[in-house]
Amino acid sequence: MLNKKTIIAIDGYSSCGKSTLAKDLAKSINIAYVDSGAMYRAVALYFIDNSLKFTDSSEVNIALAKINIHFDIIDGVNTTFLNNNNVEKEIRSPKVASIVSEVAAIPEVRTKLVALQREMGETNSLIMDGRDIGSNVFPNADFKFFITADPKVRAERRLLELRGKGIESSFEDVFNNLKHRDHIDTTRKTNPLIQTKDAIVIDNTELTKEAQLALILSIINK
Ligand code: C5P
Repeated sequence: MLNKKTIIAIDGYSSCGKSTLAKDLAKSINIAYVDSGAMYRAVALYFIDNSLKFTDSSEVNIALAKINIHFDIIDGVNTTFLNNNNVEKEIRSPKVASIVSEVAAIPEVRTKLVALQREMGETNSLIMDGRDIGSNVFPNADFKFFITADPKVRAERRLLELRGKGIESSFEDVFNNLKHRDHIDTTRKTNPLIQTKDAIVIDNTELTKEAQLALILSIINK
């Protein structure tokens, strides 16, 4: 479908369905998908498991040097590995969600992960979703989408998704966590979540995932 190397950036607030959209789009147009949020989640998990004080920048730098993140496809599912351990389920847990935005606001963490993300896009086409993909990681991306939706609808969707994975939580906790992460993501000093002028904005509050995918495909194929 695409006849040249293409980078597609998908940014937006927490739990807007960016990952689902990115995965479906990747399958439809047969290019790789990278979940940049999973990388921040893996770093947060490492910090939790090693009881690291992330306010101490020398501790952060020592820890970052020991962190190795890669992705692999396991049973058809894009899976995150931290130091060669499959952490796909653990990184989605409420304990990781509760600190990931603080961890993602640390400049040293961003420097390391952004460099890795750029490397992934050097040779091949890819779709990457996150918060700063179109604004910072790939400012020259071929397509930039900014996804948004009503916060209550987002919290309901996230709750269902967590339950589907066997992770129990309440609507209130999920809703508060989304608001908390959106606040930190939009107000942090380094690479905050912003809507760039050249991004195509899609509010999917009332869109099914199929309708959203069809809309994006129509834009890409234009
Ligand atoms: O996308 P997801 O919700 O899994 O991302 C987890 C967290 O990682 C976000 O709340 C945000 O704080 C951070 N993140 C980021 N920049 C990205 C991707 C995610 O700061 N490119």
